[in-house]
Amino acid sequence: MEEADKSWSEAPVSRRAFVGSAVIGSAIAAAAGVFYPLARYLLPESKSGGGKKETYTVALNEVHVGEARFFTFKRRPALLIRKSDTELVALSAVCTHLGCIVKYHEESKQLLCPCHGAKYDQNGRVLGGPAPKPLTAYNARIEAGTIVVEEA
Ligand code: FES
Repeated sequence: MEEADKSWSEAPVSRRAFVGSAVIGSAIAAAAGVFYPLARYLLPESKSGGGKKETYTVALNEVHVGEARFFTFKRRPALLIRKSDTELVALSAVCTHLGCIVKYHEESKQLLCPCHGAKYDQNGRVLGGPAPKPLTAYNARIEAGTIVVEEA
């Protein structure tokens, strides 16, 4: 009768079994720590839980005519240029040559890459240098006093 009252938690666990379980558990945790971030990085956003169209908004009165503002879009640097009261341009700030971040030159109204000298106009078109293609453009519009930037 006394044998039947003994619960399974009171059963003795050998040191070897305990250490074996701890090693296996640690190995699984370490593997998850490596592979989860790798999978998040490699898989497209729609397959890794994202998939929603990203939007950036800023109050219209915070960006003055002629001004350029850097912001983060799709986890990358981007640039919003307010050309006039109603004209906006939103571009990726990542140079299409080797990925440096372009700078906005207000006087010439050009985007210049400090790494190898690529030049872009305000609309992201290549004016010179080694850049193979224009900067990625995003949709930018004014909506009820707010600037809204979305993927093109
Ligand atoms: S990275 Fe911009 S010109 Fe090379």
